[in-house]
Amino acid sequence: MVMTGGTSGFGALAAQRLEGGNARLILGARRPESAVDTFPLDLADLDSVRGFAAAVRDELGDTPIDALVLNAGMVRPDADDRTVDGFETTFAVNHLAHYLLLRLLEDALADDAIITLTTSGTHDPATEAGLVTPRHADADLLAHPERDPDRDEQPGKAGQHAYTASKLCAVLTVRALREHHPNRTALAYDPGQVFGTGLAKDLALPLRIAWKVMGTPVGWPVRRLSPTRNTRAAAGNALADLVFRLQTPPEGHTYAALRRGTLAWIEPSVLARDDKLAHTLWNDSARLVSWSETSQ
Ligand SMILES: NC(=O)c1ccc[n+]([C@@H]2O[C@H](COP(=O)([O-])OP(=O)(O)OC[C@H]3O[C@@H](n4cnc5c(N)ncnc54)[C@H](OP(=O)(O)O)[C@@H]3O)[C@@H](O)[C@H]2O)c1
Repeated sequence: MVMTGGTSGFGALAAQRLEGGNARLILGARRPESAVDTFPLDLADLDSVRGFAAAVRDELGDTPIDALVLNAGMVRPDADDRTVDGFETTFAVNHLAHYLLLRLLEDALADDAIITLTTSGTHDPATEAGLVTPRHADADLLAHPERDPDRDEQPGKAGQHAYTASKLCAVLTVRALREHHPNRTALAYDPGQVFGTGLAKDLALPLRIAWKVMGTPVGWPVRRLSPTRNTRAAAGNALADLVFRLQTPPEGHTYAALRRGTLAWIEPSVLARDDKLAHTLWNDSARLVSWSETSQ
C-alpha cells in the first residue's frame, strides 16, 4: 500500500491500522516517520512527486501496489501562494500533485487495486458547510486564480474557493478513473468535519484555536448537533475500512461520506457528476504536470 497524508490528523490513525494489516505500507511524507516505511515527498514540488514515485517503483520492483491512499491535503488563508512549479499552492498540493502521483504509479497498481482520494463535503453546496463553494473545475484557472475573471477579491474567500475546488477535482478524478481503470476500485472519501487535526495550521490564530478546542471534549456537544462532524478516530477508521474493503460501495457508487460516524454512499455535487468536466480536468491536469506516457 502507498499513502500520502499519513503523518497527521485522522490519516495518521488510518495509517496505524493499515500498517497493522498483512500488506506493507509505504508513506510519502515531508518528515520521516520512525514507525513506518517513509519516503520523502513534498506535494508542493512536482519533482519531489516524481522522485517519490521512482523511489516507490524501485523499492517494490515487480510487487504490485494493492492500495493507493491519497489523503494529504491543506488549506490556506488565501490563494496567493505559489509552488516552485508556479501553481496556486492549495490546488497544486491537493489536486495536481496527487494526479501526477496517480499517473506515475498507475501501471504499478495491482489489476484489482483500490484507489482512494480524500475529498470534502465542502465541495458540495448541498452540504451547507459555510465555505465558498466551487464555481468551476477549470484546471488552468485554479492553477492561476489571478486569471479567473470571477475570482474572489477577498483573500479568505479566495483561499476557501481554492480548497473546495481542489476537493471537487478529487471527486472528478475518481469519476475519470472509472473510465480509465474500470477494473480497479476508485473511491472519493469525504470524512465530514473533523476538528482538532492539523488542517487549520496555516489559518489565522483565532481559527486555529477554535479548530483545536473543537477537537477536544469541549467540542463534543456541538459535534453531536451536526451529522457531518466526526471524531478523528471515526474518520481514520472509516478510511482504513474502505481501504481494507470492510466497507464496499453499492453498485455505481463512488462517493463515501462519513455522517454521524457511519459511511453513507451519497451523491456528490452536481458539478462532480459531470463526465465532460471529469474528462477535461483529467486532460488539462496532464498538460499542467507535463505528463506524457514516457514520463515514468
Ligand atoms: N479535518 C477535516 O475537517 C477535513 C474535512 C474534509 C476533508 N479533509 C481532508 O482530509 C485530509 C486529511 O486532513 P486532516 O484534517 O487530517 O489534516 P492534517 O492533520 O493537516 O493532515 C494533512 C496531511 O497531509 C499532509 N500534507 C500536507 N501538505 C503536504 C505536502 N506539501 N506534502 C506532503 N504531505 C502534505 C500532512 O503532512 P505533514 O504532517 O507534513 O503536515 C498531513 O499528513 C486532507 O486531504 C483534508 O483536506 C479534512
